[in-house]
Amino acid sequence: MSTIILGIESSCDDTSAAVIRDGYLLSNVIAGQAVHEAYGGVVPELASRAHQQNIVPVVHEALKRAGVRKEELSAVAFTRGPGLMGSLLVGVSFAKGFARSLNIPLVDVNHLSAHVLAHFIKEKDEPHTAPEFPFLCLLVSGGNSQIILVNSYNDMEILGQTIDDAAGEAIDKCSKVMGLGYPGGPIIDRLARQGNPKAFTFNKPHIPGLDYSFSGLKTSFLYSLRDWLKEDPDFIQNHLNDLAASLESTVVEILMDKLRKAAKEYKIRQVAVAGGVSANNGLRQAFREHADKYGWEIFIPKFGYTTDNAAMIAMTGYFKYQDGDFCLIDLPAYSRVTL
Ligand code: KG4
Repeated sequence: MSTIILGIESSCDDTSAAVIRDGYLLSNVIAGQAVHEAYGGVVPELASRAHQQNIVPVVHEALKRAGVRKEELSAVAFTRGPGLMGSLLVGVSFAKGFARSLNIPLVDVNHLSAHVLAHFIKEKDEPHTAPEFPFLCLLVSGGNSQIILVNSYNDMEILGQTIDDAAGEAIDKCSKVMGLGYPGGPIIDRLARQGNPKAFTFNKPHIPGLDYSFSGLKTSFLYSLRDWLKEDPDFIQNHLNDLAASLESTVVEILMDKLRKAAKEYKIRQVAVAGGVSANNGLRQAFREHADKYGWEIFIPKFGYTTDNAAMIAMTGYFKYQDGDFCLIDLPAYSRVTL
């Protein structure tokens, strides 16, 4: 008999539902929330209200596209955390009510491990190579910058992480300083393609071990810009592409320096990247260059699996379901939780 998992994701500002049958993705529906654009960042209260409006139609659409009746579901998997509490509560409450009404198991999923396990999502008629355990995963998003040693589906160890800002957060903040839109990551990425990455130099951190720091880069960017603007009030407009390219390349260098160190220390050559910032073209290129230079076997997710999505929640739920790792109906959401 088939195992069919409905995954539900609502940790931040994307409402998403996906259906996976026996490890193969059948549907993955994502409703974004344009309402935050006007505020230059996610407004938690507006996010939870939008999730409430979206959750039923999104789940309905995911089941429809999958061609699956709700009575056929084996379990409901949901993001328990980390994330915004008001947002999480919508998905968690819906998942609990839905699973209870169908009398099927509930599976709680850690959003961070789901980003890592997105590399195991299989799609019919598409070639797929998943990493073999153990492998390293660089998880980079708006809230996290971590190097993870992935020993198995349910055994992950954080080798290093940011001690202050996340990489995506730093990019978004620098982009905001230049008066660009939100989120800044995709805009910086687009501008950087036309710029010179060596045009400007910004401070890189000196942090021991495998940890990261991005707050110094943010300050260095801000102070440099302030000085340049004194000389030329149109400095940003005149150098936009070069600023974006130099900022992006500094972030990528910081990320890759520690990842290289981790790969050497742990003697691992299978290296994956995950999270929103893994959509970045400069970072993807750096991975390909490392593959050529250091013989790494690299795993770069499809663009659709870089940002928040329920396909990765359903995939993680599928692994946990196979282990009989279910949760109780009274399990609370967690806004802050590590791997
Ligand atoms: O994983 P994610 O969707 O969720 C949160 O962490 O909330 O990551 C969002 C982050 C944002 O900081 C966004 O600017 C960044 O990922 N991002 C990018 C790109 N696309 C999204 N950063 C650089 N280049 C991109 N193409």
